[in-house]
Amino acid sequence: MPRTNGYRGVSRDAAQKHYDVSDEFFQIWLGPSLAYAGGLWEDGADTLEKAQLRKTDYLLGQAGIRPGHRVLDVGCGYGAEMQRMVEEYDADSVTGITLSEAAVEWTRNLAIPRTEIRLENWIDHRPAQPYDAIICVEAMEHFARPGMSGRAKTRGYREFFSRCRSWLRPEGRLVIQTITWGHRFPWDLDLLRGLYLASKVYPECNPSYLTELQAASDGLFDLVALRNDFDHYARTLRCWLENLDADRDRAAQLVGEKKARDFERCMTTAVRAFSEGWLHLHRLTFRPVPEPVGPARRFLVNNVLARDSLPTPKFLG
Ligand SMILES: C[S@@+](CC[C@H](N)C(=O)[O-])C[C@H]1O[C@@H](n2cnc3c(N)ncnc32)[C@H](O)[C@@H]1O
Repeated sequence: MPRTNGYRGVSRDAAQKHYDVSDEFFQIWLGPSLAYAGGLWEDGADTLEKAQLRKTDYLLGQAGIRPGHRVLDVGCGYGAEMQRMVEEYDADSVTGITLSEAAVEWTRNLAIPRTEIRLENWIDHRPAQPYDAIICVEAMEHFARPGMSGRAKTRGYREFFSRCRSWLRPEGRLVIQTITWGHRFPWDLDLLRGLYLASKVYPECNPSYLTELQAASDGLFDLVALRNDFDHYARTLRCWLENLDADRDRAAQLVGEKKARDFERCMTTAVRAFSEGWLHLHRLTFRPVPEPVGPARRFLVNNVLARDSLPTPKFLG
């Protein structure tokens, strides 16, 4: 298996510093589903709850969840996807893993049948049986930290893809939703200040580039569907800001004025970052490659199959 150079992703302390502040605070602006991810919007009148549900159904549809399936949710948060898989898709068993103690307690209290939630890093996950599908909704941003080289990031992501492949049935699907870096640099002091603040509010967080994910999954998975819904994140964030504004005093009571203001500023920056293309929102569907061939494949394809200067062998002519 590829090595990660010992980096295990965001530390539990850093994850809890962000996520374990107050369930009620998150509920104020995320809404009742507590979905902490970009929604999938339709044109015209739409609501945050509908956009979140549409996003969940899109991702679960891409994952091909059917009655009787066993599913893993990496970075399950407050369990909205897990609940839907069991109640609407009749999944047989759903395992959710997260680094947030608050999320574990919340989701356990929901007592959703046929689900198990664990305080566990995916690196430590050892499934008893293969899964029919794996979803990972906005956890990948935590798999690399600021300051890591592209090569080190890619090595870490490859470890993740490699593990997922070994946990999946051959016909299974891996579905990822993740914020990624766009191909611009924010030469703007206000935006830079906001992004700097975001690195404090979301400690040890560093999104990927799409190209890093492609390199990391190469030879392990085929990418079968890809969309970039950056503008959907901007719309989601605008709703989160409106919700926060509507109950601003209570939010500050729960987490303190400074934290409430920091979240607000980060979200305001993020609206700009997504609208202007500094950040993207990718939704990716992967299917496992039956037999990984490794680097020899590229050599053989480029030098044998794709060579036009060789005479065509009789049996192909
Ligand atoms: C932004 S939240 C998204 C939660 C949920 N998927 C949703 O859509 O609402 C990111 C989640 O990823 C989890 N996470 C981050 N790194 C992880 C890791 N290495 N192993 C397991 N969970 C992780 C966090 O604890 C958190 O629950």
